[in-house]
Amino acid sequence: MNVHDSERLRGLLETAGFESTEVIDDADLVLINTCSVRERAQEKLFARLDRFNGKSRESRPTIAVTGCVAQQEGAKILERSPLVDVVVGTQALTALPKLVLRAEQESVPQINIEPYDSVSFPLGIAVRKDPVKAYVSIIEGCNDFCSYCVVPYTRGHERMRPAFEIIDEIAEAVASGRTEIHLLGQIVNHYQAPDIEKCGFSELLARIDRIAGVSRIRFASPHPRHVTTRVIDAIRDLPSVCKHLHLPAQSGSTRTLERMRRRYTRDDYLRLVEKIRRAIPRIALSTDMIVGFPGESREDFAETLSLTQEVGFKSMFSFKYSERPNTLAQKRMPDDVSEVEKGFRLTELQRLQQGIQLSLNKEMLGQTVEVLVEATSRRRNNEMFGRTTGNTVVNFPGEQRWVGQLANVKIERIGPNSVWGRVFDV
Ligand code: 5AD
Ligand code: SF4
Repeated sequence: MNVHDSERLRGLLETAGFESTEVIDDADLVLINTCSVRERAQEKLFARLDRFNGKSRESRPTIAVTGCVAQQEGAKILERSPLVDVVVGTQALTALPKLVLRAEQESVPQINIEPYDSVSFPLGIAVRKDPVKAYVSIIEGCNDFCSYCVVPYTRGHERMRPAFEIIDEIAEAVASGRTEIHLLGQIVNHYQAPDIEKCGFSELLARIDRIAGVSRIRFASPHPRHVTTRVIDAIRDLPSVCKHLHLPAQSGSTRTLERMRRRYTRDDYLRLVEKIRRAIPRIALSTDMIVGFPGESREDFAETLSLTQEVGFKSMFSFKYSERPNTLAQKRMPDDVSEVEKGFRLTELQRLQQGIQLSLNKEMLGQTVEVLVEATSRRRNNEMFGRTTGNTVVNFPGEQRWVGQLANVKIERIGPNSVWGRVFDV
């Protein structure tokens, strides 16, 4: 979501006449787009600002801070760092160019952290970084208030984007060569079109599937509570919807899930996984997990390990619990699992997950899979990489001109995080 906000901010600035540079010392304006989902992410802002310490206003660029830390901390950022000239929250992105100009003309810091209900965004402004994939926002904000999560406070209440605007943006992305569409929202499967009657998430998927030129649709993230039969059927039946579901579990312990306010139990989650797999046997599942949530006992954590083992996730993002301002957990639940214990639990969970990934990837040996070629590998020039419908990263010797095409790759070697193979058909 932040990557896509940066694409939008970049487009807004380019439209206002700015040009981007790779050389930071050449920049007249430095924009720091921030995340505050965990404290470590938040602290990066001040680490980034450090390089400008001690520089006079004349010898340094204009500095603008956007995103969730901007929304959350507002004027406190200006108090903590006199280097910052502009603060723009998550809902006022389009105000950025104007505020930058005003800060430069008047030499007074500018701030806009107002909440805005409208989530319309001008078509054709976002400068998409990726030649193959396009991020498209469908919902902004969240009303769920999971007890650990800062998002409802930083991104505001849940607002749906008009379906026609989403469809127009996808058509525009396809016209510029992007064939893989990534739908973004805090709870994508909550989607209800404000402009089309009876158009929920599965109907939206069906409409996108019909757009000529869309070869793949991915989305993040669905909430387990709203994965209905209709959504499962849509994933199964629509040819361009990838057979991969990122289904954040957060914990395997019902007691912890209840205190997290996730509103499902361990059994609900496992039953849902079973239902999804019955409908779509080859689907790949991935998840998010938090370790060391307040009050998480060794037994609770053991349930996270056993759920992980039982489901056999193809991949996982796992995090140490980080206390966030304003959240219910911060107000009512002392952060009582020590940092050291959180570290142990994270290592144990990640070790288990790596083993699971290795054995799932082993099953791919000798198979031929269809891969959408994404880019040249970061390590080797003559190696390309892409992903299967199940989101497995596949590396193979290939050519730059294949980017954006579908290739059939025979898997010859595997690791826990990606696999290697040879193309025999592009
Ligand atoms: N501490 C740790 N992890 C968190 N996440 C969200 N809030 C917190 C927090 N306070 C994780 C969740 C979520 C992912 C985006 O970040 O797992 O799904
Ligand atoms: Fe945060 Fe929960 Fe909303 Fe996800 S559903 S954004 S975890 S409050």
